[in-house]
Amino acid sequence: MQIVFGIDFGTTNSALSVFRNGTVEMLTVDGSDRAGELMRSVLFFNEDNEIFAGQEAIRQYVSDGADGRFMQSIKTFLPNTSFDSTEIFGKRYGIDDLVAIILRKIKARGEEHVGCPVDSVVLGRPVVFSTDPDKDAVAEQRLEKAARKAGFKNIWFQYEPVAAAMAYEDSLEAGQERIVFIGDFGGGTSDFSVIRVKGGDFSRSNRRSDVLSLGGVYVAGDKFDSQVMWDKVACHFGRHARYKAMGKDEWVNVPRSIIYTLCQWHRIPMLRARKTREHIRLIKETTDSRQAIENLENIISDNYGFFLFQAIEKAKCELSERDHSLISFVERDLRVSERIGKVEFETLNADNFQQIADCIDDVITRSGLLPTQIDTVFLTGGTSRIPHIRMLFAERFGQDKLENRDAFTSVAHGLGSSVPLFV
Ligand SMILES: Nc1ncnc2c1ncn2[C@@H]1O[C@H](COP(=O)(O)OP(=O)(O)OP(=O)(O)O)[C@@H](O)[C@H]1O
Ligand SMILES: [Mg+2]
Repeated sequence: MQIVFGIDFGTTNSALSVFRNGTVEMLTVDGSDRAGELMRSVLFFNEDNEIFAGQEAIRQYVSDGADGRFMQSIKTFLPNTSFDSTEIFGKRYGIDDLVAIILRKIKARGEEHVGCPVDSVVLGRPVVFSTDPDKDAVAEQRLEKAARKAGFKNIWFQYEPVAAAMAYEDSLEAGQERIVFIGDFGGGTSDFSVIRVKGGDFSRSNRRSDVLSLGGVYVAGDKFDSQVMWDKVACHFGRHARYKAMGKDEWVNVPRSIIYTLCQWHRIPMLRARKTREHIRLIKETTDSRQAIENLENIISDNYGFFLFQAIEKAKCELSERDHSLISFVERDLRVSERIGKVEFETLNADNFQQIADCIDDVITRSGLLPTQIDTVFLTGGTSRIPHIRMLFAERFGQDKLENRDAFTSVAHGLGSSVPLFV
């Protein structure tokens, strides 16, 4: 009897399912409670070259503070061909090595549960890693290489929204047939599919003909956080600061590229480059906002971006339930306390929501169906909790067609359900 894992390696969270004896089961990957069904896709390296993943990485990072390297949103780097490897405390790691560390840990936890080695896996992938087909191919190859390094021998890929569709299918009664619009809104990407599903029809070998259209955009939870950082918090780090460039008398703004990088939390460590730090030091000498530039220096050297972004993310999540929330963060001389309203959040992110809306419309059009011909809308992923996202669907399909559940585990579950398509 073959046992196969389904692994959803997500930008923010990863999850694991197992297929055995014809059924799919979710396994805990990081702890033993229900929350343990998810592992934060983060790594921490300390100066002794010890590596930690998930909650353990966060714990070590909190206790070790700046004395280590914390990495997050690693999946986002997969299609980035100008980023191949990084040096951490004198050792070079390829992007596939970093992903392999996470996959190896998930694999080990899964093997503990099932009590034997497992070398086959169905991995999820977003519909669009990159709109550039070459970069897209590179991303998948890197992910496959990572799975090999983690010890898997048989590796298959399934589109994340198709996996979500299969999780939905498992909840249908035998014979029940539906055309579903799937929306999977994660941390890095929003992925869509229009697909025909049928309850109790588990073993159909080829689902290709059931997929009427696929699509995706690189706009999801992380982008919303970045936008809030840009509009509400970056002012504390010199976004509006001015300075006098050497030997000149006119005021100029802090380079946009620095502030822009600051707003993408996974890229903050890149500001550690010697040239950038020297530039910031010169800005500090003549700036009209010395405190802000000092804050900028501190966030780069003390690496507290993760906690700042956690505060932003927390405020964002609260806005899914309430009309107002507070971004509250204190560190050294920095004191951030910014109120943000739900409408304000929607206005700041108008362009991001528009890109998502355009992609939804495109996927509907390419399915060859009218919204009235689609029976159900199944939304999953953490970002699907944002009311404005649900509204985009209510506007197009009507409120009563919306189903929203298992925000964090449907993809992993569906990857397990995909196993019979491959083996
Ligand atoms: N209540 C909420 N309201 C708004 N956003 C939320 C909420 N809960 C979680 N999120 C966001 O959901 C995202 C994580 O969702 P999820 O775990 O589905 O992503 P992922 O699978 O890791 O990413 P991807 O599928 O893009 O690789 C984060 O950006 C998080 O801030
Ligand atoms: Mg996901």
